[in-house]
Amino acid sequence: MSIESDQADGLTLNPTQLQALHRGKQELLQLNAKLSEAQEKLVQSEKLASIGQLAAGVAHEINNPIGYIFSNFGTLERYLVDLFEMLAAYEEAETALAGTPTGARLKALRGKVELDFLKQDIPTLMAESKEGISRVRKIVQDLKDFSRVDNNQEWILADLHQGMESTLNIVNNEIKYKARVVKQYGDLPEVECLASEINQVFMNLLINASHAIQRSDGCITISSGRADDQVWLEIADNGSGIDPEHLKRIFDPFFTTKPIGQGTGLGLSLSYGIIKKHQGQILVDSQVGVGTRFRIVLPIDQRRNDALQQPAV
Ligand SMILES: Nc1ncnc2c1ncn2[C@@H]1O[C@H](COP(=O)(O)OP(=O)(O)O)[C@@H](O)[C@H]1O
Ligand SMILES: [Mg+2]
Repeated sequence: MSIESDQADGLTLNPTQLQALHRGKQELLQLNAKLSEAQEKLVQSEKLASIGQLAAGVAHEINNPIGYIFSNFGTLERYLVDLFEMLAAYEEAETALAGTPTGARLKALRGKVELDFLKQDIPTLMAESKEGISRVRKIVQDLKDFSRVDNNQEWILADLHQGMESTLNIVNNEIKYKARVVKQYGDLPEVECLASEINQVFMNLLINASHAIQRSDGCITISSGRADDQVWLEIADNGSGIDPEHLKRIFDPFFTTKPIGQGTGLGLSLSYGIIKKHQGQILVDSQVGVGTRFRIVLPIDQRRNDALQQPAV
């Protein structure tokens, strides 16, 4: 019901009531705008999730052909060694054929195909291609590890450093121009967790750290260690730091200080949920202009996790 229709019905409102109504209307409009914004962000995060799934699927598909290309390459390399040996023998025979028409043809052909150059260049090309294939294989493996397409959503014993390395490889593109990465890994036992979800947390923290860095000597320090029946992992940056006013809101869904398109405001709230599901803690320590340090603490085993006794949602 609008204010105008109230008046049309013969209802008379005093100025205070009118003002209150106006305020109410303004608040509703604002709420509406917030809702549309939230919906937009949800759609965006949904898109991101499906892109992740797609990437994992593609990685899975590529893995197989890359596997046989890699293995055939090994065989091809061995064959080439044999072929070169054979060629050397032919070259020796060439001297014996000097002066004959066959000898002349061999000599001419050798010049035409630039045999000496080929002998040098083929091994180089092979080595470069092998390096390229190895890199593709590594990326595919990292994508697979990251999304854990093989064992979706399973509690497993995982090496968190390995998860961190895979995640670093995946976000390397985002980080490499912003910061160097310093690793101070301690000794970690394998930790019972949903590995792909923990990797998701690592990714959110790493990308946030990289976004926060605007200086040329950007640095992200990753450290880890064990304390009794828990492990801890820290990701620290020398970026902008977080305003104390914002600090209490960073884990709220949709809270972001980034322009639309760069931030959804969901990274930390999702990460919080994931760590909580693991009966762990996520803590933050930040100083404006100095940097930010996130600390994740996780129990090594989940035996006392009541949430695991309930059906998964
Ligand atoms: N390492 C960091 N340094 C500075 N600010 C950070 C850092 N990590 C998170 N923040 C702040 O917390 C907000 C929420 O983070 P997040 O939930 O990941 O959402 P988003 O990255 O999409 O904005 C960010 O917009 C930013 O203001
Ligand atoms: Mg984020």
